Amino acid sequence: MEKIAIIGAGTMGHCFAMLFAQGGHQVCLNDTSEGILDRAKRLISANLETLAQADLFDLKERPAVEARIKYTTDLAQATAGADLVIEAIFEDVQAKKELFRELDRLAPPEAVLASNTSYLDIYKYVETGRPEKIIITHWFAPPHIIPLVEIVPGPQTSSETIAFTKKILERLGKTTIVLKKYLPGFIANRLQMAINLEVLYLLDNGYATAEEIDTAVKSSFALRTPLIGVVQRFDFTGMDMIQRALKNKAYQPPEVRGRSDAVDALVAQGRMGVVSGKGFYDYEGRSTEEIMRKRDINLLKLRNFLGELE
Ligand SMILES: NC(=O)c1ccc[n+]([C@@H]2O[C@H](COP(=O)([O-])OP(=O)(O)OC[C@H]3O[C@@H](n4cnc5c(N)ncnc54)[C@H](O)[C@@H]3O)[C@@H](O)[C@H]2O)c1
Repeated sequence: MEKIAIIGAGTMGHCFAMLFAQGGHQVCLNDTSEGILDRAKRLISANLETLAQADLFDLKERPAVEARIKYTTDLAQATAGADLVIEAIFEDVQAKKELFRELDRLAPPEAVLASNTSYLDIYKYVETGRPEKIIITHWFAPPHIIPLVEIVPGPQTSSETIAFTKKILERLGKTTIVLKKYLPGFIANRLQMAINLEVLYLLDNGYATAEEIDTAVKSSFALRTPLIGVVQRFDFTGMDMIQRALKNKAYQPPEVRGRSDAVDALVAQGRMGVVSGKGFYDYEGRSTEEIMRKRDINLLKLRNFLGELE
């Protein structure tokens, strides 16, 4: 079993550590303070309970899984003997650049160094003596529930590195897609951003309320999307119809403004979303943990149900 080092124990990193430990790997989880690592330990324990509630984990296994994860603030210790290092630190060019320089120095020369960056073209600025072993693995939150990992090789990433990364992720049960080359936002975030732009256009211009937009989505294309995606849908519509719809140019995408009145108003009122108990919706005093857990259990139930369909 390969040894894994995870750098950054925040929203994404603690889940990566848990998933690899569940897969039988020895894992070292690194962050800058003991306090953050203690929080990660507590979150992993809570995640395993959520998985158990959805019948996807036997809590009898928890001590063994937890024993496979070591926690350290020492990067040299974290990367010693690692076959794969995944960084999930802040989305900041300088921070990632400095970290990769250190990883190059400290990790075994044969180790693959992966970044979970959402948007950054790390291949442009990472200085490394092992360009063939650098790769982007872009996961989705919450990573122990959402199956996809987009694998994005750089111009010098070797086919062996791609194959190794793909195999190790698929062994964990992840769904992988290998993009041909880097582009900002990869696949899923580009599509999500296009939707975000349109949603904020509708809200900012008073066409509909948040609830109405969500009702429209959940009661229409969101229902068929898990079954036929967004491309196969063209087959059901028929290409002649698609061709006609393209030709009449009735739809013009909104302008990219770099801000939204609706979002700015919520931020000004401290309505930051689930973390503050209010955002577009009011969570009526329920704790962030409670709201997240309910969402996670429902997502797991839905994922299981969809997995059973032909
Ligand atoms: N949160 C998401 O939904 C999501 C989804 C996909 C990709 N990503 C990407 O994953 C990465 C991490 O995101 P996140 O949401 O987990 O961030 P986060 O802020 O929750 O956690 C980042 C962690 O990295 C630690 N850190 C910062 N610099 C460090 C260093 N030099 N060494 C060790 N630890 C360091 C911080 O202390 C923090 O605990 C980012 O690149 C982000 O774009 C996030």
